[in-house]
Formats: sequence, C-alpha cells, structure tokens
Amino acid sequence: GSIEKLQTSPQVFWHTGAVTAHERLQQLGQQAATVWLTGLSGAGKSTLAYALERRLCSEGRLAYVLDGDNLRHHLNSDLGFTSRDRRENIRRSAEVARLLNDAGLIVICAFISPLRSDRELARTIIGPDNFIETYVSTPCAICEERDPKGLYQKARAGLIPEFTGISAPYEVPLEPALALDTEQLTIDQACTRLLQHLGPRLR
Ligand code: PPS
Repeated sequence: GSIEKLQTSPQVFWHTGAVTAHERLQQLGQQAATVWLTGLSGAGKSTLAYALERRLCSEGRLAYVLDGDNLRHHLNSDLGFTSRDRRENIRRSAEVARLLNDAGLIVICAFISPLRSDRELARTIIGPDNFIETYVSTPCAICEERDPKGLYQKARAGLIPEFTGISAPYEVPLEPALALDTEQLTIDQACTRLLQHLGPRLR
C-alpha cells in the first residue's frame, strides 16, 4: 500500500493542547501560513524563500524555510526522485509545515513538487486556509541556461534519471494564489509581492 495510508494504531491517542491558536496569534501578532513555492530546479525557489525569510524576520516576524534540498540531507535522506519518493518527500515536509504553522510560524516551503496531486496532498495536510500556492514560473529554457548546479547538463547527458523538466514531468499549477517569474522580477520585487499577499495576516 502507499506510505500515507498507514493506519494509526488504536493504542495511540490524541492529546489536545491547552494553548489555543487565537492565543498564539495574540502573542505573536501574526496569523500562521505556509507559502508553498513550486517550480523547476533553478527557477529561484530557494533564493526567493531565503530572501522572504530574511525580510519577514527583519520586520520582527517569525518565519522559517523548509527547503527540499536541505530536508533531503536529514529528515528525507532516505528518499530519491521516483514519483513515490517525491510524494513521500512532500507528505513529510507538509506535515512539518503544519506543525510549524501550529506553533504560529510563517513557513516558506521550497519544493519542486512537480505533481498537482502531491501539491493537493500538501494543501490538505496544511489546510487550505493556510496554504498559499505560489508558482515560481521561470521558464525551463531559462532554468537550463542558468543551470546553477550543472544538473541540467548532467540530465541532458543522461546521467540523472527522472530529472524534472527533462525526463520527468512538471505539472503547471492551474490556479496558484501567486505566480512569480524570476526572469521578469527581481528577487526583491518577488518578495514584495509575497509580502503584500501575507499583509492581512500580519499585525
Ligand atoms: S521534489 O520533486 O519536490 O521531491 O524535489 P525537491 O525535494 O524540491 O528536491 C529538488 C532538488 O533535488 C536536486 N535533484 C533533482 N531535482 C529534480 N529531479 C531530479 N531527478 C533530481 N535529482 C536531484 C536538485 O538540486 C533540486 O534542487 P532545486 O533547488 O529545486 O534546484
């Protein structure tokens, strides 16, 4: 069976905390959210994520980046790039985002998350009200031209199987809350757009 369908044992119970979401909102002056950045490798997701984190934190906000590349070093180090592993990568990462949102943080997720169904799983786990799907829409040709890690070159040479955009699919979001093309916008401009979107959640 698929990994996410494992049943919770009947010997495991749920404890409800005494601190309410409203109390955390009052305390922190911010309504938690997850900005979910999706897009090709080299589209600028991580750069944008860390720039937004920097700006939010400079304004006194509590924000934290979950980055695919970084999480794959530890929490998700057992996962590769088959569609099954990518889905598990997204599932676990979305669960972490949900916990951090629960703690009141603004979470910025940077994952290729190439499949609509996997992004919908993340939306369900995080909760649709907190989930801000943001398409980093930099075209594939530009990502390949940038090739900051030399991965496109390797993928073209057949050295990386199932490389997104070359030998594995990327499904464009149909109704993202935001679309940001880092070829058209500077990182600063893209951050400003995201901050405008987050504005109503910040006091
Ligand atoms: S996914 O699809 O959401 O599970 O991917 P993610 O966790 O974001 O990891 C993407 C980074 O992994 C490197 N990498 C690959 N990407 C795509 N396809 C294949 N086959 C692959 N192999 C390794 C790559 O550095 C991605 O980094 P980013 O930051 O996206 O460029």
